[in-house]
Amino acid sequence: MKKLYPESGVELNPFISKHYDTLMNLLSFGKYKGFIHRAIKDMQIQKEDAILDFGCGTGRNACLMMQYLSDKGFITGLDISEAMEVQFKKNCSRYPNTEFLNHRIDLPFQLDKKYDKVFISFVLHGFPQNIRENIIQNAFNHLKPGGTFNILDFAEFDMNAMPFYYRIPFQKGECPYAFDFIERDLKQMLSGFGFDDFKEHLYFKKYARLMVARKPEKS
Ligand SMILES: C[S@@+](CC[C@H](N)C(=O)[O-])C[C@H]1O[C@@H](n2cnc3c(N)ncnc32)[C@H](O)[C@@H]1O
Repeated sequence: MKKLYPESGVELNPFISKHYDTLMNLLSFGKYKGFIHRAIKDMQIQKEDAILDFGCGTGRNACLMMQYLSDKGFITGLDISEAMEVQFKKNCSRYPNTEFLNHRIDLPFQLDKKYDKVFISFVLHGFPQNIRENIIQNAFNHLKPGGTFNILDFAEFDMNAMPFYYRIPFQKGECPYAFDFIERDLKQMLSGFGFDDFKEHLYFKKYARLMVARKPEKS
């Protein structure tokens, strides 16, 4: 598999993609389910929200978000992986208000509507910084005024201060872009694009974070 960004850890091979949800459950010793439920609850989804999911993966998150939506809500998932597309369509087949688009999130793109929320879960860390900035701009462009960008990802932390039983798996399993991401000030990064009214929720001993940032009503 030829990667768009050779050092990226979020461009997954077909085998990992096919077993992604199971691997997350195993690697987190069964804690992933409770964690993702909590994070999605913390997004404060409203019944009629239109949600755009960047790098949506298997649809596991979309199915959870659908629990908060009425039949007027809607989720569009964007991903480049065919293995993820198959799973998303299967997992979300019971939800007519979901769609999957095979679409890159790292280049400028147009969709025919604006969204109340853009969600991105464990994707942003896996890109070089200048490409992360393209993704943030894409989120801003696709939000309605007053809409929120919901980034679920690694928090800011000092890798060397981690206990060895967290540090070793992180160092072995994550890509170099992730090591750079955890040292950056995400709030400052988002402010540079015009986002404000930040809310943060921390999980997994403060190593993971949901950052909610608002697109101002007037921008
Ligand atoms: C680590 S997985 C996370 C999946 C999902 N967000 C979740 O939390 O379960 C990263 C996802 O980003 C997708 N991805 C990687 N690069 C992408 C790109 N340039 N455009 C769109 N999706 C991308 C991958 O195919 C994969 O599904």
